[in-house]
Amino acid sequence: MKKAGVSIDERFRRAHPRSEALFRRACAAIAGGLSHDIRHLSPFPIYVDRAQGSRKWDVDGHELIDYWVGHGALFLGHGHPAVRDAIVGQLSRGTHYGACHELEVRWAEQVLKLLPWVDRIRFVGSGTEATLLAMRLARAATGRSKIVKFEGHFHGWHDYAAVGVRPPFDRPVSAGVPQGILEEVLTCPPNDWDAFRLLTFGRNDIAGVILEPGGGSSGTIPTDLGFLTRLREFTRAAGMVLIFDEVITGFRFAPGGAQQRYEIYADLTTLAKIVAGGLPGGAVVGSAPIMDQLAFRDDSAWNREGRVGHAGTFNANPLTAAAGLVTLELLADAQPHAKADRAGQNLRTGMSEVIEKLGVDACVYGESSIINLFLGPHRHGLALEGPASQLDHRLLMGHPNLEAYHQLRCALILQGVDLPLFHGWLSAAHSDEDIERTIRAFGAALRLVQDDATL
Ligand SMILES: Cc1ncc(COP(=O)(O)O)c(C=O)c1O
Repeated sequence: MKKAGVSIDERFRRAHPRSEALFRRACAAIAGGLSHDIRHLSPFPIYVDRAQGSRKWDVDGHELIDYWVGHGALFLGHGHPAVRDAIVGQLSRGTHYGACHELEVRWAEQVLKLLPWVDRIRFVGSGTEATLLAMRLARAATGRSKIVKFEGHFHGWHDYAAVGVRPPFDRPVSAGVPQGILEEVLTCPPNDWDAFRLLTFGRNDIAGVILEPGGGSSGTIPTDLGFLTRLREFTRAAGMVLIFDEVITGFRFAPGGAQQRYEIYADLTTLAKIVAGGLPGGAVVGSAPIMDQLAFRDDSAWNREGRVGHAGTFNANPLTAAAGLVTLELLADAQPHAKADRAGQNLRTGMSEVIEKLGVDACVYGESSIINLFLGPHRHGLALEGPASQLDHRLLMGHPNLEAYHQLRCALILQGVDLPLFHGWLSAAHSDEDIERTIRAFGAALRLVQDDATL
């Protein structure tokens, strides 16, 4: 409800007539008007016309500093010249050979160079496919069926990943998920060793344990490194496959991802986003004994019954291989990480100061080049500076004031910044000027939201 003057909603509508018209058309043609749930925005999403570096331009002519950067995939920013040249160069040589090709081998070798503790890679089409394949590999390797996942950790949209994502954690985030599949996934509160031990005690049917090592839902629930260390030791002793989902953190937290940063190593790792250089793609990497379950042998019984099957029309397609390879070469020296991490730190600090100054019930936090935003009474329920095991993940994932998130996002867009509702990503293309402008825009946007009485 608006105290006085023009509401954010009204301003947003007035500033984005073309986006509103496109959304109206989209709703008649595309189910739900959207192609990804996370792009939902009330009253309507903006439509983007082009992007370059840290910026994008919407169809109504507004320039925006972008903290989506391809859902975190474009670590070097939009349209990096070397990545663009690699894609354009490949375009004229063919986009899909329906055959093996040299680029996929070079891309694979580059991944293994950055993750030297890993033996093998298998390319897939997306992060969702990566976690699906990793779970299958874990089940095949152990002959067991159950997967443990943690509340608030996100692993894509397939049925096995649809449980324990948002509160209430005991109910799937989607209709249409078979009960039989839900029973194969055991969910556990994050960072809670006692709960994990209780859940797994006396069981011999657990194939694997999957989690985002950098924290559930892109760091919304920060990780307790002590918990991660114990989990590594315990799963090894119990013969469970430990799967780190590094779709977000892979090549972002360091050239070798969260595992290089924390020096804790999984049996299997799922990758997507940055690994594919901003085009569709992903991968599973891991140790030879687990990964070689995918290999054909000179043994028809093995090939038909023992082997792990895997297909996918666009796996390691030449365009993605070209973009992924050059991206991974460019980030190998960790210079992009130094820049993006510094930008992330400056942004978190600046936004926190704004929150403090305005006395808003909110907090900004995050690790490396991720920015997490919580709107709500964190001072009473959270202790982000304390041990992660004491965080209330139900509160962090609960988003009690969802309307305020939408209002703030719209208000930020009106100020020239596109920040996802709950967490955003920085890239090596974000400049000091971008950060300063974003902090100013955040102050102005928060004041608009306060004025609209949603915060
Ligand atoms: C940690 C994590 N795992 C898996 C996925 C699914 O990846 P994709 O959207 O490529 O299917 C995501 C997507 O954001 C993710 O953040």
